[in-house]
Amino acid sequence: MPAEPPDPRPADRLAELIAGGDVMVLSGAGLSTDSGIPDYRGPTGALRRATPMTYQRFVGDPAQRQRYWARSHLGWRIVAQAAPNAGHFAVTALQEHGLLAGLVTQNVDGLHTRAGATGVIELHGNLHRVVCLGCGAVSARTELDDRLRAANAGWSASVGRFNPDGDVELPDDAVRGFTVVDCRLCGGLLKPDVVFFGETVPAGRVEVSFALVAHARLLLVLGSSLSVMSGYRFVLRAAKLGVPVAIVNQGLSRGDPHAALTLDAPLGEALPELVYAATGRTSPRRSLTRSPVRPARTALRPGPKT
Ligand SMILES: NC(=O)c1ccc[n+]([C@@H]2O[C@H](COP(=O)([O-])OP(=O)(O)OC[C@H]3O[C@@H](n4cnc5c(N)ncnc54)[C@H](O)[C@@H]3O)[C@@H](O)[C@H]2O)c1
Ligand SMILES: [Zn+2]
Repeated sequence: MPAEPPDPRPADRLAELIAGGDVMVLSGAGLSTDSGIPDYRGPTGALRRATPMTYQRFVGDPAQRQRYWARSHLGWRIVAQAAPNAGHFAVTALQEHGLLAGLVTQNVDGLHTRAGATGVIELHGNLHRVVCLGCGAVSARTELDDRLRAANAGWSASVGRFNPDGDVELPDDAVRGFTVVDCRLCGGLLKPDVVFFGETVPAGRVEVSFALVAHARLLLVLGSSLSVMSGYRFVLRAAKLGVPVAIVNQGLSRGDPHAALTLDAPLGEALPELVYAATGRTSPRRSLTRSPVRPARTALRPGPKT
């Protein structure tokens, strides 16, 4: 009797599934680690050392807001200057080849869009926008940056570690010397337009994403531990609807038991290879859309090595 043909490699099977089209991508922090933005739960994950800001602490305590804005004033620039990596460009290439049904991200760094992707659903918002909790006005973070620089002329701090929330660790006395500004229109509290822990994702974004799952032929999770329910729920929905789930992630993810296929591989290498295998084309690095941030004028001094 002839021997059974060997099982194709998971990467080949995945390329075949992707080539079938109608792929919904759900990306997470692991896609941006190659751009220098740390994740929470990977090997160098920041949850091991830092507690992320919660909505309740942010709105309930002026000292917490001062701490957040002081740390974020310096940390945001690092996120804003981060460039998309080969993984982001590979996802854009899949979209340009017409293979994506939708692109949903848990990331708040805006790097999919900077890599040329369109129609990105940012589940948790975007650090490059600011929202007023009083009047609801949404403004560019660059505008707030100008105001914070003006209000804090002469302020400088030695910068510690950089965290995934787009903040850096700062000594307490530097935080206490930082001036926070309020909404120019109504005097209300300003908050980055991101979903903090303890907040819910706006219902419209969830509904659109559920609709994408329902019409997808494949849910492709990229670089997420799926520890956060707001991403994990799409895996649960796909499993319920019988939509196959594929997960490319270094290390385990909570979605693994529901996945038809898992690939433990670095995204910056695996995704360009998948694009090539699925389309026969390489995913070119192209020129970037302009960085939303101008060169820093506030002194950024390296902090103590930890
Ligand atoms: N870049 C960002 O915008 C950013 C960064 C950190 C956290 N966050 C927020 O925090 C939450 C974190 O949840 P999450 O599941 O997205 O992240 P997570 O930190 O929980 O999980 C990231 C996963 O990616 C894996 N990983 C890291 N680098 C990788 C690489 N190069 N190739 C393959 N896998 C890699 C890690 O091992 C880990 O399992 C999200 O809700 C997000 O809003 C955003
Ligand atoms: Zn306002």
